[in-house]
Amino acid sequence: MSSEAAALGILEWQPDGDRATPSAGLRDLLGTTGGTLAAVLDRVHPDERAAVREAFAAAAGGGRLDLEARLATADERFVHWSGEACGGRVVAVCRDITARVRADRAARRALHARDEVLAIVSHDLRSPLSIVSMASDAIRDTGGEGWSEELGMIKRAVSRMNRLILDLLDVTRMESGRVSFRMGAADPAALAGEAVEAFRQQAERRSLALELTLAPSLPAIRADRDRVVQALSNLLDNAIKFTDSGSVRLVVDEVGGAVRFAVADTGPGIDGAQLPHLFERFWRSEPGRRAGSGLGLAIVKGIVDAHGGRVAVDSAPGRGATFTVTLPAAN
Ligand SMILES: Nc1ncnc2c1ncn2[C@@H]1O[C@H](COP(=O)(O)OP(=O)(O)O)[C@@H](O)[C@H]1O
Ligand SMILES: [Mg+2]
Repeated sequence: MSSEAAALGILEWQPDGDRATPSAGLRDLLGTTGGTLAAVLDRVHPDERAAVREAFAAAAGGGRLDLEARLATADERFVHWSGEACGGRVVAVCRDITARVRADRAARRALHARDEVLAIVSHDLRSPLSIVSMASDAIRDTGGEGWSEELGMIKRAVSRMNRLILDLLDVTRMESGRVSFRMGAADPAALAGEAVEAFRQQAERRSLALELTLAPSLPAIRADRDRVVQALSNLLDNAIKFTDSGSVRLVVDEVGGAVRFAVADTGPGIDGAQLPHLFERFWRSEPGRRAGSGLGLAIVKGIVDAHGGRVAVDSAPGRGATFTVTLPAAN
């Protein structure tokens, strides 16, 4: 890669008497004037220093020097050492390979993300698809008599698939910064009301009280209205899904020039060890127990981050869970 071409240096090391002489390029690359091999190794990351020292010792004994190492810089830089003994000295070429290592890592992350998406698509879309196919067969076989149950199944399965596909697209796009947010002034009370009303039936079916509490006067927020409703919906969906009895409440108030939306439930709560992972995509504490793909909270975080807001969770086993989203007020 062209950006690496300039970052190259040569080290001459005389094992006998331990004299290490860096070229000007290497002095720039490593930020040391050398002197002894230890002075050069000081610029290598502590975790990799021993390996580099051994490799130089092996080269002095006639082996080939060929290894990559991380430097002791705060910005994670990497070099590649190559060389061999020549007339009582080791002559080593040191090349900055940071750009390549970073590109490799990004490529690996992208591959990993793609694999995860493919795994979800192939696994989680299979069951609603098979429902659609079975129910359609049933309709065909009855020749039209009593369709309503099968049609209901098809509708629910198709909407699950739609939700999953939209969520997969959202997380993938948010991660690569490809979602555009249409920001404008929005009324937090109206957003909250809309989100809660959409869950009225679902809460009733599970015999849960669903309450909305609004502070008397709330400042407008700068927001993509639909995206904030989506974030609140994901939180309400979880609260209702994981709570078997009691209530789900959305409380909206103002804190220090921002608007805070708190979704609190009386469900099983979340173990402290799991809290740091909640917002990772595909993360679920007990996969398979309740329907879901583990994308909801990752999307919440993506939306809140794009608004310059904060998301937090407060929970303990047996004490329910409270998720708060805080968004800056407009102006
Ligand atoms: N209100 C809640 N009560 C208990 N656990 C929750 C709650 N909300 C989220 N979780 C945990 O966080 C996980 C991730 O949530 P989410 O990203 O929405 O994925 P999903 O709902 O598809 O499982 C859930 O699987 C569950 O383990
Ligand atoms: Mg969810």
